[in-house]
Amino acid sequence: MADWLHFWENNETNWHSDTITQELAEYFELFELEPGDKVFVPLCGKSLDMIYIVNQGFSVVGVEVSEFGIRQFFKENDLKYTVTKVGDFDLYSSENLEIYCGDFFSLTSKHLNNVKAVLDRKSLIALEPDLRQKYVKHLNDIISLGVRILLVTLHYPQHQMSGPPFSVDKSEVESLFSMTFETRELKSFNDIENGSKLVRAGVDYINNAAYCLRKVRM
Ligand SMILES: C[S@@+](CC[C@H](N)C(=O)[O-])C[C@H]1O[C@@H](n2cnc3c(N)ncnc32)[C@H](O)[C@@H]1O
Repeated sequence: MADWLHFWENNETNWHSDTITQELAEYFELFELEPGDKVFVPLCGKSLDMIYIVNQGFSVVGVEVSEFGIRQFFKENDLKYTVTKVGDFDLYSSENLEIYCGDFFSLTSKHLNNVKAVLDRKSLIALEPDLRQKYVKHLNDIISLGVRILLVTLHYPQHQMSGPPFSVDKSEVESLFSMTFETRELKSFNDIENGSKLVRAGVDYINNAAYCLRKVRM
């Protein structure tokens, strides 16, 4: 398993982007959020997408295992925060934004009150195959019926590079989610120029895709 705490402490966070995820802005309306709704960002890192969502007038709840990463997020965005103990987690809170510091797999539905949408960008694809199954099962267990997920994935010849990020193609997305989710591919495009780590590894192609998934069965 990837040593995420080591990556953070050694500033090996090349997954982090200084811009918001284009697909988030492009498809934000598909979440159909109403005032007071929250967006859950699993394995959130210090993603600026969380700032974007708050700026749209909604709340964010994230979970991230690295305390170091969470503190960087608040510092770099000049946000004041408080820290409280909630069970196994330290909860970092600022206005309309909460991040649970701890293990995603220890999170329960009680931590996700009012969550109506999920943003998964570089979270599913950060995990090895067996953990991806566990991740989707757990995500399914802790979100309510009707919740929509915007999922952004990456597909490349896995034998040409070891992850993370891992390659997850459309058939895997369907097999992971289709038992309890309606799945819809929003777009799929070649992105060889933007995937620098993958380009350095010499992969033949990089295909990015975005999906809108909606939980329709328990
Ligand atoms: C590839 S990064 C993506 C971060 C973020 N989604 C983004 O787009 O920048 C994956 C993140 O998941 C965190 N992580 C990995 N396993 C985790 C777990 N079991 N619980 C909580 N966070 C975890 C890592 O520390 C890392 O910050």
